[in-house]
Amino acid sequence: MESNTRPYRSVLYIPGSKERALDKARSLPTDAIIFDLEDAVAPDAKAPARATLAAALREGGYGKRTKIVRINALTSEWGLEDVRALHDAGADAILLPKVNTSADVDNLADMLDPDMPIWVMMETPLCVFNAREIAAHRQVTGLVTGTNDLTKDLGCRARADRLPLMSALQMIVMASRAARGVVAIDGVYNRFRDGDGLKAECEQGRDLGFDGKTLIHPAQIEISNTAFAPTQSEIELAERQIAAYRESQASGQGVAVVDGQIVENLHVVAAQRILAKADAIRDMAAE
Ligand code: COA
Ligand code: MG
Repeated sequence: MESNTRPYRSVLYIPGSKERALDKARSLPTDAIIFDLEDAVAPDAKAPARATLAAALREGGYGKRTKIVRINALTSEWGLEDVRALHDAGADAILLPKVNTSADVDNLADMLDPDMPIWVMMETPLCVFNAREIAAHRQVTGLVTGTNDLTKDLGCRARADRLPLMSALQMIVMASRAARGVVAIDGVYNRFRDGDGLKAECEQGRDLGFDGKTLIHPAQIEISNTAFAPTQSEIELAERQIAAYRESQASGQGVAVVDGQIVENLHVVAAQRILAKADAIRDMAAE
């Protein structure tokens, strides 16, 4: 799975208009960056933000961080020009907001090279219903949950336990896994100075199966990186499970027992995934 060959623990939004933040991101320990032209940029600032962002991307310096450009919706007055200005500026993927159906994704795909990856904002009720088809689109490689838009459209309460969003969150993870190799990123935590609240929400997203979380402030990066990385004890357990399973195979037994728990082939696959993720994280840190 792609999610295990490259880490996406932290995915930081940066307003495309903020030169200082664009520069700062070159040294932040974030796995991926969403360079935003949509909601983080005011209407009057859209045109200059395009130029500022294109120049920053062409200048480079973002290392191994995955570079994702969020354009405005193609139905808005800015979307087409965003594509024209940014499609060949060096981004690793284009993120399309306000998607409802896979036909919306087709409209963007028609304008891009067939090998340019598309990420999709999962932020409308209709989009969640169509998640399976959207994730299966040939050019889609990532889903980004838009919890603020979903909360607005559903008319639900923004609760700390996110119970009103649970079906949508799970549908997004399920669609990404059903499509295989499609990354699933959780929504933002708005109270960016509340580290404890962020930690709890990161852990909830991790437990649901997300690969990482979208972030709005550099202070959130370390917390998200920690929550979405395998712990040392998870790594050690994975190593012991793999070793025990090998031994039991060698002695003609189908399963092994580690710490009082059965280890079958599927547990070995999960253990290998944990080790691959740990490797990818180590690789990310080695600039
Ligand atoms: N990416 C990179 N750098 C960022 C950043 C981000 N998202 N948010 C803040 N910074 C930088 C600031 O430029 C500042 O750098 P400096 O010390 O070199 O000047 C430093 O981090 C501290 O910023 P701070 O003063 O604590 O934050 P702020 O009050 O200026 O900004 C927000 C707070 C929320 C407005 C800002 O973080 C932001 O714009 N976040 C992104 C919002 C966004 O993209 N929304 C769309 C998706 S929901
Ligand atoms: Mg949105």
